[in-house]
Amino acid sequence: MSITEKFMTMEYGPAPEDPREALAWLDRHRRRFGHFINGAWQAPAAGSYFDTADPSTGETLATVAQGSAADVDSAVKAARAALPAWQSLTPHARARYLYALARQVQKHSRWLAVLETLDNGKPIRESRDIDIPLVARHFYHHAGWAQLLEQEFPGYAACGVVGQIIPWNFPLLMVAWKIAPALATGNTVVLKPAEFTPLTALAFAHICQEAGLPAGVVNIVTGDGSTGEALVQHPDVDKIAFTGSTEVGRAIRKATALSHKKLSLELGGKSPFIIFEDADLDSAVEGLVDGIWFNQGQVCCAGSRLLMQESIADKLIGKIQNRMNTLRIGPPLDKAIDIGAIVARVQLERIQRLVALGVAEGATCWQPSIPVPSRGLYFPPTLLSNVHPSSVVAQQEIFGPVLAAMTFRTPREAVELANNTVYGLAASVWSESINVSLHVAAQLKAGVVWVNCTNLFDATCGFGGYRESGYGREGGREGLLEYLEPAWFKNAPPVHTTPLAIDQPPEPPTDFAAPPIDRTVKLYIGGKQARPDSGYSIEVRGADGRLLGEAPLGNRKDIRNAVEAARKAEGWGRATAHNRAQVLYYIAENLSQRREEIARRLSAVFGKKQAEAEVSLGVERIFSYAAWADKYDGAVHSPPFRNVALAMKEPIGTVGVVCPTDAPLLGFLSLVMPAISTGNSVIAIPSEKYPLITGDLYQVFETSDLPDGVVNIVTGRAAELMKTLAEHDDVDAIWCFTDEAGAAAAKTLSVGNLKQVFTNEGRAIDWFDVKQGEGRWFLDHSVQVKNIWVPYGE
Ligand code: NAI
Repeated sequence: MSITEKFMTMEYGPAPEDPREALAWLDRHRRRFGHFINGAWQAPAAGSYFDTADPSTGETLATVAQGSAADVDSAVKAARAALPAWQSLTPHARARYLYALARQVQKHSRWLAVLETLDNGKPIRESRDIDIPLVARHFYHHAGWAQLLEQEFPGYAACGVVGQIIPWNFPLLMVAWKIAPALATGNTVVLKPAEFTPLTALAFAHICQEAGLPAGVVNIVTGDGSTGEALVQHPDVDKIAFTGSTEVGRAIRKATALSHKKLSLELGGKSPFIIFEDADLDSAVEGLVDGIWFNQGQVCCAGSRLLMQESIADKLIGKIQNRMNTLRIGPPLDKAIDIGAIVARVQLERIQRLVALGVAEGATCWQPSIPVPSRGLYFPPTLLSNVHPSSVVAQQEIFGPVLAAMTFRTPREAVELANNTVYGLAASVWSESINVSLHVAAQLKAGVVWVNCTNLFDATCGFGGYRESGYGREGGREGLLEYLEPAWFKNAPPVHTTPLAIDQPPEPPTDFAAPPIDRTVKLYIGGKQARPDSGYSIEVRGADGRLLGEAPLGNRKDIRNAVEAARKAEGWGRATAHNRAQVLYYIAENLSQRREEIARRLSAVFGKKQAEAEVSLGVERIFSYAAWADKYDGAVHSPPFRNVALAMKEPIGTVGVVCPTDAPLLGFLSLVMPAISTGNSVIAIPSEKYPLITGDLYQVFETSDLPDGVVNIVTGRAAELMKTLAEHDDVDAIWCFTDEAGAAAAKTLSVGNLKQVFTNEGRAIDWFDVKQGEGRWFLDHSVQVKNIWVPYGE
């Protein structure tokens, strides 16, 4: 046997990491932890505790407190009390605290990595080389944001007290992803770690003490789902940030609908791993090892669906199987182990159940003949081939080391298969052709696309999903915005109590000729004026009670037609930004030409002063968004790897817009124009008070080269129409700017496909004030950022 052969066949010896330091820390706490509240350890009010165990041995590591509503309340009170002093610090002072946290994490990195592996079962190689370094990186990066906050986000204020709920798959990394941006932006925090993996969050509490973080700024309450629920429902929490299953994400959306809590959700995924025939197959196979066997596949962005070009499928499967035969599964503290333990028995059983279901559905199951420990919670790396795209194992998140393989023939088919999911978290594309990979990346509905790489993360690049993978981003500028709100908006009064800037009491028209009584407008769907399905209309009256005209009473069918037309117009999102700007300028020009007649009609309801202001400011607003169209662009991030990440601002898709009642023209334009300037198509429900504006608007649109279906208008009872819009699975976002009830309904009704929701929270927005009525706040809600990671550099 040659030396090379010997080298290749040599067995690994055991290389265990020493757990003594981590265990000694647990011992110092007598293996029993209370909550960390107001800078100190606090026993649970109800006195109940539960165990957390090492999944690779089943041994109990420690006992931790089961948080009750009373514990959550005491943590929220501590966070609230700490808020004013924390916010009155200078950005530099906050930056120094974040910097101190980063330094402490780095100093304790080995202890933290071991503790993470003990509690979670992940290989020490991963916790040591990936999780903990990323935790430190996140705090360093956000120390920088704390320093720059006022310069980079002028006019924004922190949400306040933030409730954060995290899962068990990257316990400390999720602590960092949640806490670092929250603190950098001046919030205080109550965080609940997952019940299977509370220990590193508690270790982080210890680090907060070491760093001298003021009491109450970070509070950690341990417990199960019921503790999370208490945090979600606490009335004095201003924002909830959640990472976990889509099912719980949906429950949280519902539970917060009647409150004004801001919400970000990072949920499940079923991410495609697409390999084209011209890919470097060996690299792709290595990528796949990271894509699906990293952290035992318990990764929300795991490349769990392998899509292979048919021509290379057999060859590729052979290479994958060979590689699987060399994976080592076993004690996670062993430095030479690739696959550790599954976090908990219920998770192991879930994986077993889903794999059995896959086989029953007709998939072929292949597992390598490698030794699997008999003690502890282990599941071997598994390849399911001949998987039907609609089968459960191709659609549901398994959250285990299980790869479901399918084939495709053309790039187009690859995109179709890749997007054939309710999720949209991540994707990985392998091809040596830059044209193929970037062409495909652009079409994938996913928040992160890795080209010829996989599972790369960095604090500078936003991470988060499209569709039912949730909304909001973690990392980057967009991640910070999740913890900020425009300062004026936070303090805006309720919509019904405040007069707008322009006097509201409508004056009957005196110096205009009376408008004709028989003005009847139609719906506007797919670029055509349409009669309502109901055959009914609603009367519109002036301030003096005179009949001004009639508007159609739209119904569900009209909304469905409008949604269909909007979806057909999605090509608008692919038009160049210059193109969209030109159309918007043309709309402004045509509105300007009709300004007098439109103002005359509007004044019959809202008075001359408001009517004229609405039209002239309306023209300006369109100009603004025409200007923004080719300036509101993305970024190129430079993560500390051999990559660049192209942060593309993509339209959300089809947006339902329920317009404000009291500024029929300006309100409509203030919402619809930003949405279309970034490439969305819109179904708008105009002001219920003055739906006749529709007739003026479609006359303007019809003469402005706006492609059919980009803007559709359905008049009628706003609340009823919004219900259909919010429940429609082909609508991707819902914007509701009527009142408090409208905002709550938009949130509740949209849980089905987890639409992104943007509302006025029932607060008054002064549409006549440029600071409130236009700008980045609206644009930020009209896009979702997709980070495309591309290898770059030497
Ligand atoms: P989960 O979504 O139930 O748990 C995540 C966190 O939410 C935990 O801290 C939990 O205590 C908390 N929680 C549970 N119910 C809650 C409620 N009603 N209100 C507030 N907080 C609540 O996830 P679980 O049960 O641990 O895992 C189940 C499946 O979810 C996994 O098999 C996997 O498919 C998926 N999952 C996805 C994750 C992701 O990162 N996308 C992370 C964890 C799980």
